[in-house]
Amino acid sequence: MFGKRVVTDKVSPAPVAAAPKAPSENGEDVVSSNSQKSATTPPAKIAQSKKKPVIAEENTKRSEEYYAIKTTIFNALIDTIDLSQLAQLDTTSAAEEIRDIVTEIISIKNVVMSIAEQEGLLQDICDDVLGFGPLEPLLARDDISDIMVNGADAVFIEVNGKVEKTGVRFRDNGQLMNICQRIVSQVGRRVDESSPICDARLMDGSRVNVIAPPLSLDGPTLTIRKFKKDKLTLDDLVKFNSITPEGAKVLGIIGASRCNVLISGGTGSGKTTLLNCMTAYIEPDERVITCEDAAELQLQQPHVVRLETRPPNLEGTGMITMTDLVKNCLRMRPERIIVGEVRGHEAFDLLQAMNTGHDGSMGTIHANSPRESLSRLESMITMGGFGLPSRTIREMIAGSIDVVIQAARLRDGSRKITHVTEVLGMEGEVIITQDIFLYEIKGEDENGNIVGQHNSTGIARPNFWDRARYYGLEGELALALDAAEA
Ligand SMILES: Nc1ncnc2c1ncn2[C@@H]1O[C@H](COP(=O)(O)OP(=O)(O)OP(=O)(O)O)[C@@H](O)[C@H]1O
Ligand SMILES: [Mg+2]
Repeated sequence: MFGKRVVTDKVSPAPVAAAPKAPSENGEDVVSSNSQKSATTPPAKIAQSKKKPVIAEENTKRSEEYYAIKTTIFNALIDTIDLSQLAQLDTTSAAEEIRDIVTEIISIKNVVMSIAEQEGLLQDICDDVLGFGPLEPLLARDDISDIMVNGADAVFIEVNGKVEKTGVRFRDNGQLMNICQRIVSQVGRRVDESSPICDARLMDGSRVNVIAPPLSLDGPTLTIRKFKKDKLTLDDLVKFNSITPEGAKVLGIIGASRCNVLISGGTGSGKTTLLNCMTAYIEPDERVITCEDAAELQLQQPHVVRLETRPPNLEGTGMITMTDLVKNCLRMRPERIIVGEVRGHEAFDLLQAMNTGHDGSMGTIHANSPRESLSRLESMITMGGFGLPSRTIREMIAGSIDVVIQAARLRDGSRKITHVTEVLGMEGEVIITQDIFLYEIKGEDENGNIVGQHNSTGIARPNFWDRARYYGLEGELALALDAAEA
């Protein structure tokens, strides 16, 4: 079918010691021609549903010999087929074509393999040519929350809060770079030496960041935050002991009574997840506008407008920042504004929105404690060059934010809500806060898991009591606070 289909025996089985290498002489991976040609019509991902997830440990067992054989067969395949024509086929036919040819090559070259090994090899090669190569089995797994590739030989994953190294590896940095290119070309971007940093999104919604050499010194570095189809709910967080049932109830009331909420936490601590949980308490008739760098939130309400920032184009123009989005929001008659992550001048606009009738707005911020989150807000506004005295900024913060919820990933990998803290107001120059719930670490069990508990601080009438009463929720609030104290 592809004209070149003559299997020559010029590629002899590589010696075991031969490390996987770039298949073409000019050092460029042959697949790159495929990916570049198909940049406008990127090859669709192989239907993941067809294959069962292969666990990382399985890949760990693959020997040098396996990779050597794979390189040999891959090279013979590249010599045999015309990749540009292959890119024009639909994925299923292309995969069938590749399978036919590879099976033929295996028999011609007399490679000794069990049926299972052969099936694994066929899948690997299909993934390489049509999909995201060695990443495919990891992308197919639902239990992985992050995939971190630090160059061709070091692939880490986070499972159940723990980071572990997998045996997955790429042929070389060239192959890894091609896969990065293929991923970012799907959203119309490119990554190379001249623009080595790129954010993108996979078809399934997973958030991707690529940073390439010369900025990353040991090869292209790819970080994927896997998209969870079934987003966690507050009930799930209770099941995971991230919060008590009473604490979750109080959070629900905070969301429903339109408190302005700041969710604070470190990287990967569960901020976005928590924000998503809190949005479940928004009434269906409220008009909500979300602003994110990469759309991760999944609001279930019918009246939601989703906005996303945009990086500059190749000429360095056309950038739309979070500040632009939040400013524009205000002209869109929002009832609530949700900011995926507050990290710059948009803090000012968000606080203004919170202060001017958009109650129930929410955002996340990188900080290690509620106190720190408030001072980070202050410094973001100071650095925005608005020329406001620090007391005015603090008054603005104290007047806008009602509650700070702190998320943390503990050293055993578990994620907890460590503080639910109210902002009460100002005393002199200082913002006064009051904790409602705190997580206390007591020690560690024999398996290294953290032992601790959530405590109520005994506040019977939080500051948002009147709000809760306004929305008819004070009875529920009193019950939840009483139960928490008991
Ligand atoms: N309470 C929890 N228990 C278990 N897993 C959780 C919990 N909260 C979040 N996760 C998982 O942790 C991962 C990271 O969560 P999330 O994206 O919410 O973190 P984040 O703080 O927003 O990260 P980033 O700083 O990168 O934006 C996700 O896979 C999510 O499903
Ligand atoms: Mg996040």
